[in-house]
Amino acid sequence: MASGTFAESGADLELVGIQKRFPGFTAIEHLDLTIPAGSFFALLGPSGCGKTTTLRLVAGLEDPTEGSILIGGKDVTKLKPFQRQVNTVFQSYALFPHMTVLENVAFGLRRRKIEDPIGKAHEALVLVELDHLATRKPQQLSGGQQQRVALARAIVNRPALLLLDEPLGALDLKLRRQMQLELKSIQEEVGLTFVHVTHDQEEAMTMADTVAVMNKGEIEQLGAPEELYELPRTAFVANFLGQSNLFTGHVSGSTSNSITVDVEGTKITIPTKRAQRHKGEVTVGVRPEKLHLHKNAPKKEAGTNSLGPGRIIDVSFSGVSTQYTIAIPGIDKVTVFQQNTTFGPLAGEGAEVWVSWDVDHGFGLEDEPGATPRFPADADTASIAVQKRRALMSELEES
Ligand SMILES: Nc1ncnc2c1ncn2[C@@H]1O[C@H](COP(=O)(O)OP(=O)(O)O)[C@@H](O)[C@H]1O
Ligand SMILES: [Mg+2]
Repeated sequence: MASGTFAESGADLELVGIQKRFPGFTAIEHLDLTIPAGSFFALLGPSGCGKTTTLRLVAGLEDPTEGSILIGGKDVTKLKPFQRQVNTVFQSYALFPHMTVLENVAFGLRRRKIEDPIGKAHEALVLVELDHLATRKPQQLSGGQQQRVALARAIVNRPALLLLDEPLGALDLKLRRQMQLELKSIQEEVGLTFVHVTHDQEEAMTMADTVAVMNKGEIEQLGAPEELYELPRTAFVANFLGQSNLFTGHVSGSTSNSITVDVEGTKITIPTKRAQRHKGEVTVGVRPEKLHLHKNAPKKEAGTNSLGPGRIIDVSFSGVSTQYTIAIPGIDKVTVFQQNTTFGPLAGEGAEVWVSWDVDHGFGLEDEPGATPRFPADADTASIAVQKRRALMSELEES
């Protein structure tokens, strides 16, 4: 189809030593990031962690306090937004209601006096499979279709870099899943560099080749989705990307390829190469779906960790799997996901059970247990909002 026409323009994005301070609040303390050309990159993090600020810096809508931004190797830090080869798709599509779909897509090209705006707009609409609706107005389209028009309008400009700020946030779950797959295949087709911002971990994992988990203005961990999921390095990543069972204790022994942690008298072993810290107080973890539930004490076996007995305190059915919460003396709570290969739960609330897992599935975190968070609590935001409102009011009064 239209591939090749769009393909030549993907570019690397580099953020070097970026810091962004707003009056009284540091949104980004220090950010170094390289996103290779042609990749689908997701910036994942909770609300308020600095995702939109990062995109606005790249787009040139904010100036960094420190650091530089390079697109395709060229320093664009001092360039105005329109001088950067960047387009942004926002959550609110911001389509012009009085224009047809085709005119919406052609608008930017016309304004920049690009040759054959209508032909190019049709091409972009073919790509998002909406060319048959080119003569409609935006309000005659569904939410998902409007989202695709917004995408066509951004792609038609052939930006080296396409920034997507929670673009699927307004869609219902099913449409969202469908659009995730479509966006991914469009990105593969056009070969542009996509930087997608989301707080939805499933969305980031299904779409991106590389995911950066952001926390309080810093990247906690970056890598392929499977890598981040299977080997989280911090408690934040272990819990923000899926769920984890975490245990803290002292390293009580080690062999050439494993370390053993004493958690209130219970020994848990993990592979050395999956541990970020090898001595002292450490936190180790395992994903809930890696655990097996037993109604009788499992035999002690090398290569297997086991805990128990404990009591099931909650059973919650979620279709494909059932989630069991188990209270184990000295260990606190453990969560187990079991696939529903049979009817009914394996054991009910109150039942005595044990859990076990393969030593190879454990991981050890780099966090120092009990360390204070990197940033003080966000106490200034309210006063910033007040300052902002005052500034706006006085601007209004002046004009
Ligand atoms: N113009 C601004 N002035 C002051 N603080 C801001 C401004 N813009 C954003 N912030 C603060 O920076 C932090 C990051 O915001 P943002 O990048 O929008 O987060 P996200 O997109 O990850 O939800 C928030 O705590 C927010 O309140
Ligand atoms: Mg945001």
